[in-house]
Amino acid sequence: MRISNKMEKATMEAHIMDTKQVLQILNQALQIEYAAGIQYLQHSFLVQGIDRRVFADYFRSQSESSFNQAKQIGDHIVNLGGLPTVEPYAIKQSTDLKEMLQLNLELERTGLKVYQEGIKAAAEDTPLKFFFEDQAYHEYQDVNELEKLLDQKKVSVTEKEVQLKKVKSA
Ligand SMILES: [Fe+2]
Repeated sequence: MRISNKMEKATMEAHIMDTKQVLQILNQALQIEYAAGIQYLQHSFLVQGIDRRVFADYFRSQSESSFNQAKQIGDHIVNLGGLPTVEPYAIKQSTDLKEMLQLNLELERTGLKVYQEGIKAAAEDTPLKFFFEDQAYHEYQDVNELEKLLDQKKVSVTEKEVQLKKVKSA
C-alpha cells in the first residue's frame, strides 16, 4: 500500500508543471524572438539588387511577426510571475542573401526546438501547452518556407508524366 501510494505520487508529480522550468524556456524563447526580430530587420535594411524587390518586404514582415511573438511570450512570463529578459540571443550578420536565409533558418530551427521543450514542460496545463504548440507551428511554417527558399526541399516525382484532366466543353 505504501509503495503504491509512493508510485501514485510520483506519477502525479510527473504531470504537474514545473513553473521555474517553464519560465526558463519562455525566457529562452523571448531571447530568440528578440534576436529574430532584429536579425530580420537588419536583413531588410541590407538586402540589395533585384532581390530587394521581394526580400525587403519578406524580411520586414518576418521581423514584425517575431516581435509579435516576443510580446505574447513576455505577457506569459509575467502571467507566471517571472521577469521577461531584455537580452537577445546571438544575432548573426551577413550581407549575402543566401547566407541571410541560412542564418534565419538556423534561428527558426532553434526556436522550434525551444517551443517543443515548452510543450513537454507545460505538462497538463492545457492552455499553456496550446500556446507552445501554436508558437511551434509558427516556427515550423517558417522553417519549411526558408528551406524552400534555400532550395532544400527535394520533391520526388515517380510518375513518368502528369496528365492534366480534360475539361468537358459545354
Ligand atoms: Fe519564426
